[in-house]
Amino acid sequence: MIKPVMLKPDSLLTFEEGFILTYPSRDFEILKRRVEAVKSLGVCLIEFTGPKQVFNVNLLGKGTRNIVVKAWVSGYAYALKIRRLDSSASSVKVEAENMKIANSVRVGPKLISYTDDMILMEIVHGKPILEWINARTEENTIRRVLFKLIMDAYRLDMVGLDHGELSRASKHVFIKPDNEPVILDFGSSSTNRRPSNVSSLISYLFIRGVMPNTFQKLHESPNREEVLHRLKQYKQRPSKEALNSLIEALGL
Ligand SMILES: Nc1ncnc2c1ncn2[C@@H]1O[C@H](COP(=O)(O)OP(=O)(O)O)[C@@H](O)[C@H]1O
Ligand SMILES: [Mg+2]
Repeated sequence: MIKPVMLKPDSLLTFEEGFILTYPSRDFEILKRRVEAVKSLGVCLIEFTGPKQVFNVNLLGKGTRNIVVKAWVSGYAYALKIRRLDSSASSVKVEAENMKIANSVRVGPKLISYTDDMILMEIVHGKPILEWINARTEENTIRRVLFKLIMDAYRLDMVGLDHGELSRASKHVFIKPDNEPVILDFGSSSTNRRPSNVSSLISYLFIRGVMPNTFQKLHESPNREEVLHRLKQYKQRPSKEALNSLIEALGL
């Protein structure tokens, strides 16, 4: 049988591909409920495309708690994030509410709507940050993107939302074709912790030495001690001044 590229929600009940909605199980009762939920979000087609594969089906992404598929709503493409059945019961509602907070400071994919176990959001066509940097040589472009990214993290700090996984930024920061960074995945985010977005991101990118090729060398020259010192000052008292001083030390 030919592998379908797109399916209407109702067809998910008759094609094997439907079971990606109940990944990693194959549960027909839950599938029926989830197909109704997909329809309630206004999704008219699910498209099987993207870099990941599960059950021999292509997806936009697969995380530890969710799978992400491309979904069409009245002619527009979105990302539909669907809770995996083996994920512990962290709340989709909290994730969606926190996305709203992030969106209020122009961070994260735009939230469209959500149900108990799915979130419909803006689709991000882009590359994971390290992959993006690796494919690049223009230092100014890289610098500009890193600067924008740190500003996004700063706005999250200021609005009191801790992303929670920016110390694993390679999975959660994508760079769009127009060189705009996007912070993904608010599934571990919280308004009940002291935000550490700027410090997690900078530790990850500049202290742990994950940066590839030329860019790492560029950042061995500025004074590492000075960066650490200013990072500590920012952590103690986050402010625009402390941020500017940090950005200066980083040579951005
Ligand atoms: N809005 C989106 N547009 C395109 N791809 C996305 C989007 N959101 C997530 N993805 C892809 O799906 C993967 C898993 O999503 P993520 O939100 O991290 O799920 P989890 O909560 O399970 O960790 C991401 O690493 C990314 O590759
Ligand atoms: Mg994730």
